[in-house]
Amino acid sequence: MEQKIRAILSQIQEPILKKDFASLGFIYDIIIKGDSVKIRLGITDTEYNDFPGIRNRIATKVVEEIKEIKKVDVDFMLGIVNHENKQKDSVLPGVKNTIAVASGKGGVGKSTVAVNLAAALSLEGAKVGLIDADIYGPSIPIMLGINERPRVVKHNGVNKMVPIVQYGIKLMSIGFLIEDNSAVVWRGPMASSALKQFMSEVLWEDLDFLLFDMPPGTGDIQLTLSQTIPLTGSVVVTTPQEISLSDARKGHNMFVKVNVPNLGFIENMSYYLTPEGKKEFIFGEGGGKKIADEFGVKLLGEIPIDTEIRVTGDSGKPIMFSKPDSASGKIFKGIAKNLIHEINEKNISPAKPSGIELIV
Ligand SMILES: Nc1ncnc2c1ncn2[C@@H]1O[C@H](COP(=O)(O)OP(=O)(O)OP(=O)(O)O)[C@@H](O)[C@H]1O
Ligand SMILES: [Mg+2]
Repeated sequence: MEQKIRAILSQIQEPILKKDFASLGFIYDIIIKGDSVKIRLGITDTEYNDFPGIRNRIATKVVEEIKEIKKVDVDFMLGIVNHENKQKDSVLPGVKNTIAVASGKGGVGKSTVAVNLAAALSLEGAKVGLIDADIYGPSIPIMLGINERPRVVKHNGVNKMVPIVQYGIKLMSIGFLIEDNSAVVWRGPMASSALKQFMSEVLWEDLDFLLFDMPPGTGDIQLTLSQTIPLTGSVVVTTPQEISLSDARKGHNMFVKVNVPNLGFIENMSYYLTPEGKKEFIFGEGGGKKIADEFGVKLLGEIPIDTEIRVTGDSGKPIMFSKPDSASGKIFKGIAKNLIHEINEKNISPAKPSGIELIV
């Protein structure tokens, strides 16, 4: 009977992605009890505006086609499409998508965006992990108020580190492993081997998204890292002024060079919101939109300069954890929704030929 229900669901389209529930991998549960069935399905937007309509369509079809079933209950939860990639699956089994949060320039707010985006994705219902790929200057321990060492467990006979879980996000950072303030003087190959271990020797288990808070710049190290990580895509953080945009272009191009699609730009420090509610465009207006249009990718969102973002980031409880319903919190929510949309769309579209050779 379950097979029959699956067959029916393979003929019904998820209303936003317009692809059937079975091939999206969005059939999460089918529980049959007597003459009733409870079905749990994924959807790309949990605030979809016509749940009754789609529920009805499914129920009618199931009752029509399977005479033993009289009652159908349909539940929806966030659906994330898996990025089909052999390299990713061998290094990170169970992780559906890997995303680098990067920029060309330092100090534009990558780490701030990475932790708040991780939180926003998690609040949407996704299972999220975050790797602090900034081996030279880790930020995650301070931003999330962590002063703990990861445990080591035996998993299938192999020693694995257990990620630290804070506010429901699984985390790994070199800062968890070194003493406070000890300088990390590593050469490039050592940094990338540390990062490799963060993937292969950490028990990530099932995640919808594993984010990487990347170090600044587009030098050799960043290039090595972006080749080491089997990435679904990048998001590039920029501030609005021209000098930051030119570095963001380099960031975008670096990923394109190694065949990693840029899923979009995020403009940070877009404007200052005065206590009277007026927007002051301190660094100029529209830079993020301009660069996104230039490359034909999405501008995922524009984040204001907000004292609350800095204060909460410094105090170990970023704004998405402390004040998710604030104005900036709502902006991060919008960015998370846009990113989910981009990733699901990308994962169901046939890969575009890139034609660019990798230079290692
Ligand atoms: N929108 C914002 N409003 C206010 N402060 C912000 C905002 N974004 C970032 N900041 C602050 O700016 C500083 C730098 O941010 P962050 O550490 O996230 O940048 P980064 O790009 O990760 O830096 P690095 O290149 O050193 O890794 C932090 O003190 C952070 O709290
Ligand atoms: Mg940083």
